[in-house]
Amino acid sequence: GEKKLWGGRFAASPAEAFERLNASIPFDVRLAPYDIRGSIAHARMLGRCGIISEEESARLVRGLEAVLDEVESGEFRWTLADEDVHTAVERRLRELVGEVALKLHTGRSRNDQVALDLRLFTLDAADRIRRGVLEVMRALLEVAEANRGVILPGYTHLQRAQPLLLSHHLLAHFEALKRDVRRIEAASEAARFSPLGAAALGGTPHPVDVGMTASELGMEPFANSLDAVSDRDFACDLLYACAMLGVHLSRMGEEWVLWTSQEFAFARLDDAYASGSSIMPQKKNPDAWELMRGKAGRLVGDLSSLLITLKGLPSGYSKDLQEDKEPLFDAVDAVLAMLAVLPEMLRTARFDAERMRAAAGGFALATEAADFLAARGVPFREAHRAVGWLVRRCEELGVSLQDAPREELVAAHPALGELPRELLTPEGSIRNRRSAGSTAPESVERQLAAAREYLAGV
Ligand code: ARG
Repeated sequence: GEKKLWGGRFAASPAEAFERLNASIPFDVRLAPYDIRGSIAHARMLGRCGIISEEESARLVRGLEAVLDEVESGEFRWTLADEDVHTAVERRLRELVGEVALKLHTGRSRNDQVALDLRLFTLDAADRIRRGVLEVMRALLEVAEANRGVILPGYTHLQRAQPLLLSHHLLAHFEALKRDVRRIEAASEAARFSPLGAAALGGTPHPVDVGMTASELGMEPFANSLDAVSDRDFACDLLYACAMLGVHLSRMGEEWVLWTSQEFAFARLDDAYASGSSIMPQKKNPDAWELMRGKAGRLVGDLSSLLITLKGLPSGYSKDLQEDKEPLFDAVDAVLAMLAVLPEMLRTARFDAERMRAAAGGFALATEAADFLAARGVPFREAHRAVGWLVRRCEELGVSLQDAPREELVAAHPALGELPRELLTPEGSIRNRRSAGSTAPESVERQLAAAREYLAGV
């Protein structure tokens, strides 16, 4: 057991099968850069607080920097016997600087160490995800600006409901992503506390300065050592932010899968963002958008995975907490891969404005006729019934609402005789919107301006 960090108490080495189950090194090795940053901060603090000599501290820092170089250049070699990244880094440090390496762990435990590593990882990941989301928002805004005036039907129950400006529709997704940015920032806020100095769970007799390590790492110190080693809220916060973002991207994905179908044929993807079939030569499939839907499920799974791990645990470190890493890594990797394709895929897609407009006409304008009556004092319920009758008549006659014979309009309701036919066009309907945040062109212009301002300010 001598090779283990904890080997002193043990007469025999661990069984191989147990070693395999117990080891986190196959996946936590990606924490190495954060682990080393934390160790450097810890080693500096030990020297400044006189817990080890300044000279020892300097040798540790230089050694850790050399290990970091090996990690960054890909030279760093770990083995399963290293158990976890903390052991691997310390083992390599000892190989490089000798016995002084044995002093590094003074006033520290792997419990505060691993919590710190995960927080530094979370901060980094949140920052990259946040920038990725902002890039998608930039692309959405560009596409919204480039397609001013394009009209499509809005849907409820996937049935044509009312005409919308395409820009308005795209900006709806922009708003959702804005909320995702806030959630990602909140996860960063939660991660910004250093647990170093909590040691195993109750603090340490060594005169460590928890504020010093925290500020060296750009963090705040923890308030309670037991909470510091138990808290994984920040990881759940980022996982929730990823899951919610995934649900938003899935919603967009579902729309694009419909829009690019031959039945809708509202949009076409650039060849660079679609794939074919190995058997059907004609196929051009929206795989990337399907994966937005598909990976959203996995992101929800990653969040539940960590919550379920945490829900059975008491305060303090339990080995179950080792299971916090893979769902977090998985979610971050999936989200970054999703975000990486979106901006260009959106920018290079093409819309069939004619087809979209055509689908936005017809009975999708019925609400307009009802609102026209209501504006003339007809109780809305009565107006609704009159226009519903008119739609049924038009269906029987095989004409659109716009081409309904005047006598049918009047039969539906006398006041419909004065209905301007212009109102029964997609453009007329959209121009007729008065309420704030609506799909009316002036309202959408204001939303575009607000979106530009938002992106200029982040
Ligand atoms: N590999 C462990 C983890 O990922 C590190 C912490 C180990 N701490 C302990 N007391 N065994 O959580």
